[in-house]
Amino acid sequence: MSSRRNFIKKTAVVSTAIAIAPNLTFGINKSSEKLKIGMIGVGLRGTDHVNNLLLRNDVLITAICDIDPARISLNLDAIKKAGQKEPAVYDKNDYDYRNLLELKEVDAVIIATPWLWHTRMAKDAMLAGKYTGVEVSAANTMEECWDLVNTHEQTGTHMMILENVNYRRDIMAVLNMVKQNIFGELVHFRCGYQHDLRFVKFNDGKTPYGKGVEFGEKGISESKWRTQHSLLRNADVYPTHGVGPIAAMTDINRGNRFLSLTSHATKGIGLHNYIVDNGGKDHPNAKLNFKQGDVITSTIETARGETIIVTHDCNLPRPYSLGFRVQGANGLWEVDGNRIYIEGKSKPHEWDSADDWLKQYDHPLWIKYGEHAMGAGHGGMDFFVINAFVESAKQNIAPPLDAYDAAAWSAITPLSELSIENNGEPQNFPDFTRGLWLKRQPYNWIKDTY
Ligand SMILES: NC(=O)c1ccc[n+]([C@@H]2O[C@H](COP(=O)([O-])OP(=O)(O)OC[C@H]3O[C@@H](n4cnc5c(N)ncnc54)[C@H](O)[C@@H]3O)[C@@H](O)[C@H]2O)c1
Repeated sequence: MSSRRNFIKKTAVVSTAIAIAPNLTFGINKSSEKLKIGMIGVGLRGTDHVNNLLLRNDVLITAICDIDPARISLNLDAIKKAGQKEPAVYDKNDYDYRNLLELKEVDAVIIATPWLWHTRMAKDAMLAGKYTGVEVSAANTMEECWDLVNTHEQTGTHMMILENVNYRRDIMAVLNMVKQNIFGELVHFRCGYQHDLRFVKFNDGKTPYGKGVEFGEKGISESKWRTQHSLLRNADVYPTHGVGPIAAMTDINRGNRFLSLTSHATKGIGLHNYIVDNGGKDHPNAKLNFKQGDVITSTIETARGETIIVTHDCNLPRPYSLGFRVQGANGLWEVDGNRIYIEGKSKPHEWDSADDWLKQYDHPLWIKYGEHAMGAGHGGMDFFVINAFVESAKQNIAPPLDAYDAAAWSAITPLSELSIENNGEPQNFPDFTRGLWLKRQPYNWIKDTY
């Protein structure tokens, strides 16, 4: 994510790197037992998933759905090149995905459409009995958060929120340190999505990134739908890249839970300035009033007495950082500055470079598959998130990041909106597990399978 432009350039290079890697065998490997996947939405992100899936020998892509014919034909080419049978195509209209869901030849689906489609599609997929993977964020409103949980419980069908940052190498090493109690009892966290997205929110309708100040009907890719959320909502609309990894470290929904949140927003000047600088002050978009504050700060309290500061900062010039900090009774890690301090191990009052610590606690998954993963996109984490999805779906078992996680993390959006609207008034999180968080066991993260 640090640079989507670089990322796109790199994808081709990495794909080759993985293609020449030895045959990776993840569990089931007989052709008769291949997992049959239907793709819903094959824009930029869905195409990344297709490319990663095509490198595996335990899945088949049996159906693809998108309303954009250009995306369909690009992905058909890739699937054909990989030597797989031509998948069924669903491209008639916004609801053609429902026909894909009727296919017997689909065991699992991956949903990588614009945000407003996620819950509706995930709900329909679970109702159809398809193991469901949904891109981030999973839900936009509190009603949608409950829809995910209720549909999962009613149908018994599993869903996974495809949060790739949970699988980043430094995050997994720090998770390993947390589980080995290196930081001691956990107290405080910081995280967020701090990514200058001005070149994503606007384009010229021809190239996704870097040119023009159009959006909505006149834009392409994410500017077609994402920018609308900045125009209409003063909320942290993209909380999961930050909060997902922290939630895993602090056992949210599995012995702990989010209790309440307060949020504040700054004024919003970044998007307007970008339009004026790149399209001129007379461009019609320069007259728009974007509701979203440029920096939105939410503070979450957990049942175990920790606080988590979550920042959304996407409209101003800035280098990328998810701003992680993990702090406990014995010390802390900060991603900015790449530094760690552990009392009794580090020199008193002096930071250690994080490098040696992260190497020492490198996660077993990264030790085993890191070399193969490195090119899979977003520095390797895309490989692991898809691997976890495929492995869980093949066994039809609960995934590491489930419907309760999707609901609790996504709930930050409507709750931050309410809090901001009411001058920072605290908002309570619903208990999406209906009390089960007290006895649900943490997922076993420290293993080398998925
Ligand atoms: N985890 C990550 O690192 C990461 C990175 C990028 C995007 N994403 C997420 O992935 C999702 C997709 O983002 P993107 O960048 O690919 O956007 P995109 O606009 O490039 O792709 C979305 C695709 O969905 C299709 N679509 C829209 N409505 C549809 C419908 N009713 N039926 C079928 N197809 C439909 C569009 O035609 C488009 O091809 C978003 O939720 C985004 O937040 C996640």
